[in-house]
Amino acid sequence: MKKTMVAATLLAIFAACAGSNTEQKTTTEEKPVVDLSANPDYQAGLTLVGQSDCLTCHKINEKAIGPSYVDIAKKYPNNAETHKLLAGKIIAGGSGVWGQVPMTPHPQISEADAIAMVKYVLLLKDAQ
Ligand code: HEC
Repeated sequence: MKKTMVAATLLAIFAACAGSNTEQKTTTEEKPVVDLSANPDYQAGLTLVGQSDCLTCHKINEKAIGPSYVDIAKKYPNNAETHKLLAGKIIAGGSGVWGQVPMTPHPQISEADAIAMVKYVLLLKDAQ
């Protein structure tokens, strides 16, 4: 009987400590798995990226010659301003944001296609 009381007290103390630490708790929770394949922006952008030379320099979730798509998605808010900014970089080329290696220009890509590619990249924020 005494033992049970001690155990209950210890549990209560432990629960109180854990309770004061909720912030840390939420960050260690598993992320929900997002199924992107049903998203039309994902499909359209993925197709365009696959048809161009993007994947010779970019990987989804690790740095290659260029930054990973996940890192790009984490850096920028997913809004119209970012779509236009990054589409401009894809078309005209870019340098100095992620390092000294420049991205080659892609003048043959239309702005609409470049925006579709950016929308796809920005969706990858939670990709594993
Ligand atoms: C020759 C290699 C290369 C190719 C090909 C390439 N990239 Fe890049 N990309 C880079 C590098 C390097 C950077 C980082 C440039 C910087 O530091 O500003 C970059 C940056 C980016 C960025 C972020 C720009 C910024 O200012 O934050 C986006 C978005 C991007 N690339 C998308 C694409 C897409 C889409 C394609 C295919 C059409 C593509 N890239 C093809 C090398 C490349």
